Amino acid sequence: MEIIRSVSQMQQRALALRAEGRRIAFVPTMGWLHRGHLSLLEAGRERGDVLVLSIFVNPAQFGQGEDFDSYPRDLSRDAALAEEVGTDIIFAPEASDMYPRGYATYVDVEGITSVLCGASRPGHFRGVTTVVTKLFTIVQPHIALFGEKDFQQLAVIRRMTVDLNLPVEVVGMPIVREKDGLAMSSRNVYLGADQRWQALALSKSIAEARQQVAAGESSAAIVIEGVRQTIEAMPDARIDYLEICHQNSLEAQQAIDADSVLLLAVFIGETRLIDNGLLHTNGEGGS
Ligand code: PAF
Repeated sequence: MEIIRSVSQMQQRALALRAEGRRIAFVPTMGWLHRGHLSLLEAGRERGDVLVLSIFVNPAQFGQGEDFDSYPRDLSRDAALAEEVGTDIIFAPEASDMYPRGYATYVDVEGITSVLCGASRPGHFRGVTTVVTKLFTIVQPHIALFGEKDFQQLAVIRRMTVDLNLPVEVVGMPIVREKDGLAMSSRNVYLGADQRWQALALSKSIAEARQQVAAGESSAAIVIEGVRQTIEAMPDARIDYLEICHQNSLEAQQAIDADSVLLLAVFIGETRLIDNGLLHTNGEGGS
């Protein structure tokens, strides 16, 4: 496995691989890999000849007062995990190489970025779409894999890829959960033991919402109220948003149908967690 730190070296390597007819599968991350990331790498391994993982804590997608400085970073830990699942190249650039002095170009997707996480984290998706466009240009992937835990991010990246005619197949992969239901996230490391337990309210409330829907409930307001009660029973929980939306448009829905997805963002103490799940599903399904 090779570790490339330089943007120009990565791009030259990618162009050379393409010229040889190799199919590049790409998993972009901010590092501190967990089993969710490894499942993306495993899927990428099967779908490409060369598997590239990027590790870059992207300053452009963090707002003031967010956790950019404290975001967990450990390249040797990540490299060991990545190698075990057959990664060929880790691209781990410096921020000064990605955004050199005078940098002035941003990619902005309108509409679906103004709701949910976009409403609570202004500028976040502009940072995500800008860095993903740059990573696509540098790594030149045929296929890129993203987790469905970041449901809105995946929808935004799909929109951007279509709108900008980027020649990349964007693939979403199901949420990977701990045995007790907690969605895997690099930010779970911030949770103390008691908060880790309180965080289970997110997945529990999604399971309860599914049960309500399976029993015939179709009012989004009623289901959301049940979710609210489950979350608010936790002393350190503060709801950022709870919404039932159409899975493609992300428009809020009043009546639940086959395309409804429940999306949550909840602070447990200082840690902001997100989770989601399709409501009409047999078992885990969707995300
Ligand atoms: O999901 C993430 O880890 C990041 O938002 C991404 C897609 C790597 C862009 O920085």
